Amino acid sequence: MQKAIGILTSGGDAPGMNAAVRAVTRAAISRGYKVIGVQRGYNGLLDGETLELDERSVSNIIQRGGTVLYTARCDEFKEKEYQQKAVEKCIEMGVEGVVVMGGDGTFKGAAALSAGGIRCIGIPATIDNDIVCTEYTIGFDTAMNTAVEMIDKLRDTAQSHDKCSVVEVMGRNAGWLALNVGLAVGATGIVVPEIKFDINALAAKMKRIQQGRKQHFIIVFAEGCGNSSEFAAKLTELTGIETRDTVLGHVQRGGNPTVRDRNIASEMGYYAVELIDSGKSNRVVGLKNGSVFDVDIYEGLAMTKPFDERLYRIANEIAF
Ligand code: ADP
Ligand code: F6P
Repeated sequence: MQKAIGILTSGGDAPGMNAAVRAVTRAAISRGYKVIGVQRGYNGLLDGETLELDERSVSNIIQRGGTVLYTARCDEFKEKEYQQKAVEKCIEMGVEGVVVMGGDGTFKGAAALSAGGIRCIGIPATIDNDIVCTEYTIGFDTAMNTAVEMIDKLRDTAQSHDKCSVVEVMGRNAGWLALNVGLAVGATGIVVPEIKFDINALAAKMKRIQQGRKQHFIIVFAEGCGNSSEFAAKLTELTGIETRDTVLGHVQRGGNPTVRDRNIASEMGYYAVELIDSGKSNRVVGLKNGSVFDVDIYEGLAMTKPFDERLYRIANEIAF
C-alpha cells in the first residue's frame, strides 16, 4: 500500500488554512505520499468522511478564506474509545501521519493519535493568536486587517456625529486581536482580559480630550471582557457622550487571507510534512523570533506567553 498522509482542519476556521492544506498536499505528493483529506475535523476520521487529494484538488484555494476540508468540533474525540477507533481508521487507510490544523484542543487530539502510533503534527491556526507555544497563528493577520477595515468605517460615522463607538472584537479569552487592532485604529481605550481596566479613568480621559478639538472616540473591547453593550451604556452614563456598541462577530473569521497568512501557512504546511517524513511525531509547528520551529505537543501546551504590556502601554499613551 502507498504510504499516506492525512490532513484535517478542526476548531474554528481561520483564513490561511487553505494555503496550508495546499502546501501539505503538494509537499507530501512530492515525497511520494498519497494525501487523504479528512473532512469536518476529527468527525471525518471517525466517520470515514475522507477524500484523496491530488495536486489539482488544491488548485485555486491559496487565496480563499475558510477551509475546503470543512471544520467541526467533535466532543467524543476527547474519549479514549474514539481516539482508538481513529487510530484504527488511520491504519486501515495506510495513513502513517496526520497534519492537524487548529488550536490547543485540536493539538490534544493530535497527541492522542500520536500516542496510538500515528505520526501527528499540529499547525496553529486561529484568529485569536492565543496559542502559547508560538508567536503567530495562521489567520491572525487577516482577522486584524478585517477588523481594522470595519473600524475605519465606523470611525467615519462616529466622527461625523461626534459619537463614541465601542467595538467588540473576537479573541476568545485573549486580548491579542483587540490590542493589535486597537493600536492600528488609534483607539482611545483598549479593553482586554489580561489587563485590569478602569472605566472611570477612561471616562475622565474622554472628557479631557473632549475639552480639546476631538469629539469622537473609538474603544476596542475584547469579547473575553464580558458584555460590550453594558460597557457602552456605562460609558454613556459616565461621560454623557452618546456611545454605540458594535459587535464585529464572525466577519472577522472570513475573507481572503493576507500575504502574511498565505506565506506562513505555506511554510508551516511544508515544514509539517518534512517532520512526518523524517519520522517525527507529536510536534507542534510554531514561529519563534520570526522563524518556523517545532516543539513537543505537551511541552508546547504547558508553555506561557506573557501579554505584550509594553505595546498596550504605547497604544494608550499615544491615543488622545
Ligand atoms: P481549538 O482546536 O481551536 O482549541 P477546540 O477546543 O474546540 O478548538 O477543539 C477542537 C477539537 O479538538 C474538539 O472538538 C475535539 O474534537 C478535539 N479536542 C479538544 N480537546 C481534546 C482533548 N482533550 N482530547 C482529545 N481531543 C480533543
Ligand atoms: O477561536 C476562534 C473564535 O472565532 C473565537 O474568537 C470566538 O470566541 C470563537 O471562535 C467563536 O466560536 P463559534 O464560531 O463556535 O461561536
